[in-house]
Amino acid sequence: MNKNTFTLIDNRDQTEYEYPILGASRGPQAVDMSKFYQESGLFSYDPGFTSTANCSSEITFINGEKGELRYRGHPIEELATKHNYLDVCYLLLHNKLPSKEEKVAFDLELRHRAFLPEGLRNLYDSFPDNAHPMSILSAATTALSTFYYEHLSLETQEDYYVMAHRIIAKIPTIAAFAYRKSIGASYIYPDIDKSFTENFLYMLRAYPGGKLKLTPNGHQEIKDIEIKALDTIFTLHADHEQNASTTVVRSVGSTGAHPYVAISSGISALWGRAHGGANESVIEQLRLIGSVENVEKYIAKAKDPNDPFRLMGFGHRVYKNFDPRAKILKQMQVELSKELNLDSELMQIAQKIESIALSDEYFIERKLYPNIDFYSGVILTSLKIPREMFTPIFVIGRTVGWITQWIESKQNPKAKIVRPRQLYTGE
Ligand code: SDX
Repeated sequence: MNKNTFTLIDNRDQTEYEYPILGASRGPQAVDMSKFYQESGLFSYDPGFTSTANCSSEITFINGEKGELRYRGHPIEELATKHNYLDVCYLLLHNKLPSKEEKVAFDLELRHRAFLPEGLRNLYDSFPDNAHPMSILSAATTALSTFYYEHLSLETQEDYYVMAHRIIAKIPTIAAFAYRKSIGASYIYPDIDKSFTENFLYMLRAYPGGKLKLTPNGHQEIKDIEIKALDTIFTLHADHEQNASTTVVRSVGSTGAHPYVAISSGISALWGRAHGGANESVIEQLRLIGSVENVEKYIAKAKDPNDPFRLMGFGHRVYKNFDPRAKILKQMQVELSKELNLDSELMQIAQKIESIALSDEYFIERKLYPNIDFYSGVILTSLKIPREMFTPIFVIGRTVGWITQWIESKQNPKAKIVRPRQLYTGE
């Protein structure tokens, strides 16, 4: 009778170790190895956690082979086309899409919570004008915890929701203020008459006094198509199971630190160009390549094992097929290219890279496909968003995922402090 267990045999002395197989509602099952060291005196060795589940979760599911992504069971394609970002925030946090009344109440709450404590503004003055917005975002989010120490002791579910809604609502303002600081412009406060996504574009673009650019036909408007494009980008970035920055947020959460310093740690981890920072690096790289004629040369560099050059926006730890988010953004690029006059030169270089890489043995055998960051930069550029704000936009989208994962880890009665071991090879 085949028991639902997994047996390991130590061939040095034929000892057998038997462990339960844990069922999954979707995707791979897992062998419960938690007693392995205690029983065998051995560690499992898996740098980068390529084969390790470090938690169980009900939030987001990815099937890397099929290029499938679901938030609370809903396919990303459905959410990106039929719902907006606030629906997705509500779905992730509350495990259900909001009713009409719930949506109105949620929207209004976030509008009123978008303002920063006035004292936080002084922090911005301590940064040089050329400070990267990601460093300001990380510092300001940690500083935000000092204004809301009560979130160190969350009792009721309502406490958790207030804490989560607050950070989701304030991150766009923190990011917009960081941008305004970097251009030496005064801060534009949130406008409670504007929706979440429109408000962010408004806080980036408005002139002191709060008016948008004046043209012979009156004040410029923020176009619906721009709002929809950015809103979809937020949705596509909302969560992504146990990626590097989410793992950091859960780890910081496991020590009992304030939720906002856990989010700040996630912001710092996301900044790396191997992770969320890739979207900024993709545009840098397309500009470095400079023309379609140069693409072959850079593809050769990316393939050269002795050259550290990597094709930014390509490859993924989980997706060994097209990143479904990249597919949606690629479609959006086509739709927006006319309406938002996307930079055709950059798009042509990107398309050339994609066509060569997808037919090249090096990329095929390593299953390297374009990921979300490969396409987001061209669209954000067309929204006149400066490159150093690309990763802050990833932060705005991902904050709801981080805080939802943090809440799930805190409310897990079996949660333990994250404390892996090592294979010691020193003296
Ligand atoms: C994000 O995890 C998530 O979910 C992240 C994310 C999210 O939503 O949270 O999806 C967001 O971070 C997307 C990824 C953005 N990063 C980039 O685009 C940077 C470029 N990509 C690579 O650095 C890399 O592909 C990673 C970091 C994304 C994944 O790295 P892995 O899984 O550890 O793979 P690896 O480094 O072991 O590479 C496997 C092979 C190696 O070749 P060999 O040693 O076998 O010869 O593929 C090669 C690598 O050299 N390779 C690349 C490459 N990516 C991997 N070669 C050239 N260009 C690349 N981009």
